[in-house]
Amino acid sequence: MLQEARAQIETAGSLEALQTVKTHYLGKNGEVTKQLKSLGALSPEERKVKGQEINALKQEIDGLISEREVALKEAALQAKLASEAIDITLPALSMPAGGLHVITRILDDLSDIFTRMGYNVVEGNEVEDDAYNFQHLNIPWYHPARDLWDTFWLKDGRLLRTHTSPMQIRYMLEHTAPLKIVVPGKVYRYEATDATHESMFHQLEGLVVGDNISMADLKGTIAELARGLFGPKAKVRFQPSFYPFVEPGADFAVWWENPRGESKWLELGGCGMVHPNVFKAVDDLREQRGLPRIYEGKTGFAFGLGPERIAMLKYGMPDIRYFYANDLRVLAQFKGEL
Ligand code: PHE
Repeated sequence: MLQEARAQIETAGSLEALQTVKTHYLGKNGEVTKQLKSLGALSPEERKVKGQEINALKQEIDGLISEREVALKEAALQAKLASEAIDITLPALSMPAGGLHVITRILDDLSDIFTRMGYNVVEGNEVEDDAYNFQHLNIPWYHPARDLWDTFWLKDGRLLRTHTSPMQIRYMLEHTAPLKIVVPGKVYRYEATDATHESMFHQLEGLVVGDNISMADLKGTIAELARGLFGPKAKVRFQPSFYPFVEPGADFAVWWENPRGESKWLELGGCGMVHPNVFKAVDDLREQRGLPRIYEGKTGFAFGLGPERIAMLKYGMPDIRYFYANDLRVLAQFKGEL
C-alpha cells in the first residue's frame, strides 16, 4: 500500500488532488483507518505487532503528504509571483501633457523682448506695505488718486499690491543707477468682476533710470515692445494721463492687425517720466539705512502694462474671467506655439 500511496502523492498536481489522496488513506473511512479498525479482531500479541506496522505506515504516508503539500504551496507561490511580475519593457500608459498658462506665456514673451533690450527681470512680493504701494510712490494717504486703486487690505494693515510699481522703490533701494528692469507679477484690485475686470490679474512693470533719459527713450521703448509683440507694422499711440509717480504721464495703445484681419487700438498700459518725489523718497529711505543719496538729479521712465489685455486681443478671448476659471476647454487651446 505504501508504494501505491507514494505514487499517488507524488503525482498529485494540486493541493485539492493531494487532499483527495489524504482522505483516501487517512480519512475516517480511509484505507489506513480501516486497517486500524480491524485490529480489534486480532489477538493481543498480533494486535501489538500489526498495530506498530500500521502506525508506522500511517506516519510514513502522513510525512509524504506534508512534504508534498509544502512543495505544492511553494510552486503555487512561485507561479503567482511570476504572473504578477512587472514587465518593464511594456510601453507606458500615455498621460495627457499639461502646458504653460497662456498668461505665463505672454509674460515670458514680454520678458524675452525686454531681456533682448538689456533689461533684468525681477519679481516682488504680492503682500505689500502701504508705504511701498502708495506713499513712496508719491501717493500720500489723503491723495484722491488712491481711488484709482481699490485695495484689498489685510487684517494686519498690510495689503495685496494693487500694481507692480512698489518694486520701483524696492529695486532702487538696493541697486545703483543706471538700471533697466521689468517686473512681471500678480496684482489685486477690490472691484466687481466683469468681462474686462478681475480682482486678480497681472502686470509687467518697467523701470529705466540713468542720466539724460528722455520721453523719446520711453516712446522708442514702447514702440520696440509693440513690434516685438505684434510684428514690424505695429504702431503706438500716447495720450496724456495722470499717475502720481510719473510726470509727465501717459497712457499708451498699440495698433495691431491680427491674423483674422481685425485691427484696432489696444489700450495697453500707463507710463511716464519718473516723478522727482519718487527719487526723493528712495534717497530718504537709503539715507535711513546709511546708504548714500544717489537718485536725486537722475532721470528715468516707468511703464506698466496688462498681459491679459494682450491675450484677449491676440486670441479673441471675450472675457478675462476665462483665464482663471480653470476650464480645460479654454486652457488646452494654448498648449502649443504662441
Ligand atoms: N502702476 C500703474 C497702474 O497700475 C501703471 C503705471 C506704471 C503707470 C508705471 C505709470 C508708470 O495703473
